[in-house]
Amino acid sequence: MSLPAGQTPDVHPSQLTETFDFTRLSPPADAVDMLLLDTAAAWWEHGHARDGVLILDDRSGALTLPVLASLISDAGRPRAACAAVEDAVSAVRVVQDELGAELGLQRNARRYELPAPVPAELPALNDAEPEAFAGVHTVLMHLPRSLETLADWAWLIRQHAAADVVVLAGGRDKHMNHSMNQVLEKNFSDVSAGRGRSKSRILTARAPRGDVPAAEPRTQAHQISVPGAAPTDLILCSMGATYGGTKLDPGTRLLLQTAEAHAEFPGAEEAVDFGSGNGTVSAFLALRHRELRMIATDHSASAVQSTRLTAAANGVADRIEAMRDDALSRLADSSAELILLNPPFHQGNAVDPAAANRLIRAAARVLAPGGRLYCVYNSHLKHRAVLTREIGPTQQLARDARFTVTVSTAS
Ligand SMILES: C[S@@+](CC[C@H](N)C(=O)[O-])C[C@H]1O[C@@H](n2cnc3c(N)ncnc32)[C@H](O)[C@@H]1O
Repeated sequence: MSLPAGQTPDVHPSQLTETFDFTRLSPPADAVDMLLLDTAAAWWEHGHARDGVLILDDRSGALTLPVLASLISDAGRPRAACAAVEDAVSAVRVVQDELGAELGLQRNARRYELPAPVPAELPALNDAEPEAFAGVHTVLMHLPRSLETLADWAWLIRQHAAADVVVLAGGRDKHMNHSMNQVLEKNFSDVSAGRGRSKSRILTARAPRGDVPAAEPRTQAHQISVPGAAPTDLILCSMGATYGGTKLDPGTRLLLQTAEAHAEFPGAEEAVDFGSGNGTVSAFLALRHRELRMIATDHSASAVQSTRLTAAANGVADRIEAMRDDALSRLADSSAELILLNPPFHQGNAVDPAAANRLIRAAARVLAPGGRLYCVYNSHLKHRAVLTREIGPTQQLARDARFTVTVSTAS
């Protein structure tokens, strides 16, 4: 029985949170996970369809695994009863942007001896029938930090989910703002905020609107100037959770200008754009050097899609191979002559050099002897010592108030 518009069921601790042993989850579940699970359970107790659950960006499996465990136990058969398990698994669909989150979910599933759903691909906005979103009745997600990501997800749900879909989007009070409601309201006519619990809250969106214009990837025109040469016009495209959206990162601008001034690329056959984001590095170099092939890799599914869109928008898709990969794991040892990297300096909300250090070690493994890594980073960070230790002799090529560009030669 569906609740009238604006009404949501009362939420209380449910079987989903009370019977699942969360202590073995790593990273642990948080208050938003618990509130999302109890809110979903309240809808299901109220008679809302339990099959067709879509879980977006479940970082550790804290949402997926309790839902799966409960569906399997509700099937009323031992875990070995394959048909019941298969039904339960296929009732739950998971889309993860970062490859690391996908691997984390698989790891935790093994820990709980649960069959993790095969992660679905992040669909393109113009995908006619994205499997993960088609016909779903319930969506569970943490509110993403970027409104663009929320807008893309809301559009895909509105376009492809069942008409009775209940979208539960949870967040910490301190990270939530009214713009999030507005993004949801563009796609759903019934959006309401629930009661807070443990400084967290759920936005519920229902009743997909019928008259929403098609969502398009975002695009923006830029120009990069290089001394002694005509400036290069560049179109940057982005969708979903891509770092920086369609912006041209100022550090990347300096990296490219410096690498060009170093005259490294004329004559080179291949270079790796490590952490390609919206594809700035790949598209710029492919536009300027007609013989150069780029391997663009990023662990974010949206970044890989954005890189492909940018490559196509600049007419260089035939020389840019974009792949989703964690820390160059798909590239062989000592296989690359040139790598360009603008590493992340955040882990979640905190400044943390660990992520960048891991990428520098990955570049060290993949560089052939004598190969070079061009790197840009915030000048206050101490990456130069790590670059020298992990890769080899490191020279500072440029430095401005904010950024430092270095080249390291693999020894
Ligand atoms: C600072 S952004 C730079 C993006 C782009 N190159 C630019 O200049 O705008 C860093 C990029 O590294 C990616 N990244 C972070 N960790 C990664 C990993 N473990 N493996 C692959 N890519 C990663 C992020 O998704 C992000 O797109």
